[in-house]
Amino acid sequence: MKKILTTLLFAAMILPITARTTITLEKGWKFIKGDPSGAMNADFKDASWENVTVPHDWAIYGPFDKEIDKQVVQIEQNGEKSVSEKTGRTGALPYIGVGWYHNRFEIPDYKAGDKVTILFDGAMSHPTVYVNGAKVGNWVYGYNSFYFDITPYIKPGMPVNLAVRLENLNESSRWYPGAGLYRNVHVISTPNTHIETWGTQLSTPVVSAGLAKICLQTRIANPSEGLSLETIIRDNDGKIVEGTSTNQLIANEFEQIIAVNNPKLWSPETPTLYTAESKLKLGEEVIDTYTTRFGIRSISFSSGIGFQLNGITRKFKGVCLHHDLGPLGSAVNVAAIRRQLSILKDMGCDAIRTSHNMPSPELLNLCDELGFMVMDEAFDEWKKPKCRNGYNLSFDEWAEKDLVNFVHRDRNHPCIVLWSIGNELPEQGYQDGSKTAFFLKNIIHREDPTRPVTSGMDNIDNAIKNQFAATLDVPGVNYHLNRYQNTFEQLPQGFLLGSETASTISSRGIYEFPVKEGKDLTYPDHQCSSYDLGACGWSNLPDEDWMWQDDKDWVIGEFVWTGFDYLGEPTPYDGMWPSRSSYFGICDLAGLPKDRYYLYRSRWNTTEPTLHVLPHWNWKGREGEVTPVFVYTSYPEAEIFINGKSQGRLKKSSSGLGRYRLMWNNVKYEPGKLKVIAYDSLGKAVAEKEITTSGKPVGITLKADRSELKADGKDLAFVTVSLVDKDGNECPDATNLLNFKLKGAGDYRAACNGDATSLQQFHLPVMKLFSGKLVVIVQSKEKAGDIVLRVSGKGLKSESLNIKAR
Ligand code: GAL
Repeated sequence: MKKILTTLLFAAMILPITARTTITLEKGWKFIKGDPSGAMNADFKDASWENVTVPHDWAIYGPFDKEIDKQVVQIEQNGEKSVSEKTGRTGALPYIGVGWYHNRFEIPDYKAGDKVTILFDGAMSHPTVYVNGAKVGNWVYGYNSFYFDITPYIKPGMPVNLAVRLENLNESSRWYPGAGLYRNVHVISTPNTHIETWGTQLSTPVVSAGLAKICLQTRIANPSEGLSLETIIRDNDGKIVEGTSTNQLIANEFEQIIAVNNPKLWSPETPTLYTAESKLKLGEEVIDTYTTRFGIRSISFSSGIGFQLNGITRKFKGVCLHHDLGPLGSAVNVAAIRRQLSILKDMGCDAIRTSHNMPSPELLNLCDELGFMVMDEAFDEWKKPKCRNGYNLSFDEWAEKDLVNFVHRDRNHPCIVLWSIGNELPEQGYQDGSKTAFFLKNIIHREDPTRPVTSGMDNIDNAIKNQFAATLDVPGVNYHLNRYQNTFEQLPQGFLLGSETASTISSRGIYEFPVKEGKDLTYPDHQCSSYDLGACGWSNLPDEDWMWQDDKDWVIGEFVWTGFDYLGEPTPYDGMWPSRSSYFGICDLAGLPKDRYYLYRSRWNTTEPTLHVLPHWNWKGREGEVTPVFVYTSYPEAEIFINGKSQGRLKKSSSGLGRYRLMWNNVKYEPGKLKVIAYDSLGKAVAEKEITTSGKPVGITLKADRSELKADGKDLAFVTVSLVDKDGNECPDATNLLNFKLKGAGDYRAACNGDATSLQQFHLPVMKLFSGKLVVIVQSKEKAGDIVLRVSGKGLKSESLNIKAR
């Protein structure tokens, strides 16, 4: 082994590294909404063709309109007994219809005999791809990645004319899907003999502190005599740690087994990554190279033990995420995803469920890097419809093709620990439902034998009866806590996963009185109370999930619905305009934490303490009225004071909601100072927090998540804007209208205030505050320099913030 490694080390230094070229088509796109005749060969004389960059979501610019995709439906999953009008179910944004994209580009160094592949990370939806006027192929599912060989359609030395037609049907979704080329498009040119797209499959079947065994299968397209494959393994710092070489090509596949001594294991807490760099050689010439990034880790799910990562039992502290990025729509942006994941990381979250479809490659790359385990989910619908024009229309023809691409693209990510074949499938209630589950599970096992298959079940009794639930490797139960015990007892697996939990509803900074615990509570302002005591008919409070997780070893954790609010599905106001985005998020649509964030943090973040008090203390008109105070804290005990007067000291109890949150239900409001002191288990005061009733807003404060951006035209800073009174106290109920101006090396991209009922368009540089806050998103240009954001509003002192672009 040592000799091979030395030879490879030498080879790594002298051989050319690239033999393939990948370009990502971001610029130079033309877009038109509609289906004009001749769009495929357009001359762009029609002024409606816009210049756009991709990723692009054509619908996010609005305007919001109640009539868009108004659905008169009965949502059986929500227990509805009759049809009713649903406005805003898909976000009330203009995503329906046809759109065309064109790009004309050249492929550097392309010569006769090379192969050219075009790879779409996702295209919403029903994409048909044309090259130089000829139809190359089509796909259906808007969330999946797919690729085509375009070699027969192009000529060396000639530019490539690419056209893509997309079409979104009405009533095809339960949420806002986005529209257009919302993910990246890549063009890959290789020699005729090359490593296939997604052509490596890497697993780590032996993992211990001293040794890991790496198995790497590499598939070759158009193989010929005389091929060999050299692979070197680099650690997180880029240092070569191992290497191997083989010329044994069996069928079209090389197989390499590599031992890594003293591996650094991947986990959410230690997201250590390695790379396998493979060189495909013909004789002595390197004809292709391919890098597979991976992590070394083991997973197991077993009866009596539950879930283990690297041999250690743990429970998932996960959240479900929709793919949209709030005010950016569904257009992928690395900085925006990174920000979401950083917010979740601080909460102590360690897992993501990509509900209910294939995520962007960018999300998975970041989960690998930042340390999140992923339940990678494929479908929300099989053959039985949830939406009239949903995936059910395509299932028979496309399900297997979709799953194959899904697994091939993603299977080398260490972050993925579970594949999900779908969410709340109506098939659970049908006799042959288990056959479909079995069919899909087998496809996944065939393509990746290393990970178990799950599904989120909501019709659990029927799923048990018809063997649907027993077919799954990991039974996932959505809500229905009262079915947990029976499900565990009836099923063979010996554990269950809370594949979807909570669906608690709240609006950031909004508190409704009198404070009530209940289901489907609605209020005239179309908001949900941040006392976090409201859920839907089918769902529950976070605390109720935790009782099961804490009291039963066989409950292996949860995926909360949802980490962030998303566009569409404005339950419980889905029939009440103008609600157009969800209330489920732990954070709002702008990414700002709601109170619930601190409730989860107090349990999930085990490295830093949490002490959070609610509500805000600006209740003009409620003087002397009962205004309960809640404290979310990792400490066992706390005391609150109003204007210095103790309201009593409370300890967490052993049952009920008081087990996880401290509640002073009889506090009477008086303006001034609300203070909380937390005590440790020895009764010692260890932390405190104070909030003050604020006066009239006079000033603006700006706080950016980053002070420096990459000058790449894509990077983003998220600036939180709030108002303060003359003494610097935050004004939690301010609703002022603000204006935003950008100068220098950045552009205004969007703003969002997290109000699910706001019809203000995100891309216009003016917005009202909601509960005293909003977020402005600033985008770098492709030039270095200072970016200056200036925020102003009537009666307020304007404020500016500097960000550097490098
Ligand atoms: C679940 C469903 C989710 C979402 C959620 C809202 O039943 O799986 O997609 O609709 O309800 O509570």
